[in-house]
Amino acid sequence: MLKEKIESLKKQFLEEVGKITPSEERLFELEKKYLGRKSEFIGILKNLKNLTPEERKQIGELANRTKDEIMEIISGKKKELEAGSIDFEKEKIDVTIPGKRKGVGHLNPISLVQMEIEDIFTSMGFEIADGPEVENEHYNFDVLNVPKDHPARDMQDTFWLKDISNKEKLVLRTHTSNVQVRYMEKHKPPFKIIIPGKVFRHEATDPRHEHTFYQFEALVVGKKISAANFKYIAKTFFERFFEKEMNVRLRPSFFPFTEPSFEFDITCNICNGKGCPTCSHSGWQEIGGAGMVNQKVFEAAGYKNGEYQGFAWGFGMERLAMLKYKIDDARLFHGGDLRFTKQF
Ligand code: DAH
Repeated sequence: MLKEKIESLKKQFLEEVGKITPSEERLFELEKKYLGRKSEFIGILKNLKNLTPEERKQIGELANRTKDEIMEIISGKKKELEAGSIDFEKEKIDVTIPGKRKGVGHLNPISLVQMEIEDIFTSMGFEIADGPEVENEHYNFDVLNVPKDHPARDMQDTFWLKDISNKEKLVLRTHTSNVQVRYMEKHKPPFKIIIPGKVFRHEATDPRHEHTFYQFEALVVGKKISAANFKYIAKTFFERFFEKEMNVRLRPSFFPFTEPSFEFDITCNICNGKGCPTCSHSGWQEIGGAGMVNQKVFEAAGYKNGEYQGFAWGFGMERLAMLKYKIDDARLFHGGDLRFTKQF
């Protein structure tokens, strides 16, 4: 009885599968009807345990074989269906077409300049120091002997932050000099450091100015440091940076944190000192400020007046990059235009 039942189910299945136009849905329905949990066929398999051992063996074998056959036919049809849905013409891959190049990122020239500065100075035994971009009035101005009424503290130059603590006034640091006393409070001379970093000024942008730019500061402190040491280090640095002979010229100037103070110029990189329109025919390029550290700054750091001498300097990295790569607009550095960065 069961044997006939199985055979007739199989026959019925074969007839049905021969008639349908295979689609995923139709095949799924067939599979459910013949092999699904509630199908007659699976019912038979479930009831095998009620048969005599001999019948069980015979019927079990037949039922399992038939189940496998049905399963095989269904999966064969599924495969045909899948193969039929592939448009080989469309999917054809032409392996001879050249590949698409993946763009490689470029470093901003400011990063290149910073890396080079760090390389040159560390090779001369300098350490690299770091400090906060959000700074309090104390380290940005007070300890550097910048008087309370100094124009640099004015709204025009400084980004003041909303006072949230009522304890101290916060600014976006206007120069990397803010790290000088922070470092000196924690270190005893002699030391040589550079401080590269981002600074902010509340000013209108033009080809030579940005409100956000990069500076780097150098600070050398010890027992017998003089302006001659500064001149030597500066000349050595610029010659390595521009890979040619460079001269350094000092002009008297004023900064509250240095005494004496100077501004310094280097040989014009464009005309090598002969005079050209870029240097207004002087043969020199203004670079930055420098001086012998004011003893008041040492005192603010907790050093005894007169115990040490040191020199400091600071200037903009954009200016250095502009001279090195002959770039004529400082706004290009932070403009985010990839056509600019791609050239480096
Ligand atoms: N902090 C000055 C500025 O931003 C630059 C400067 C001048 C730094 C003289 C120094 C220095 O360390 O000695 O304009």
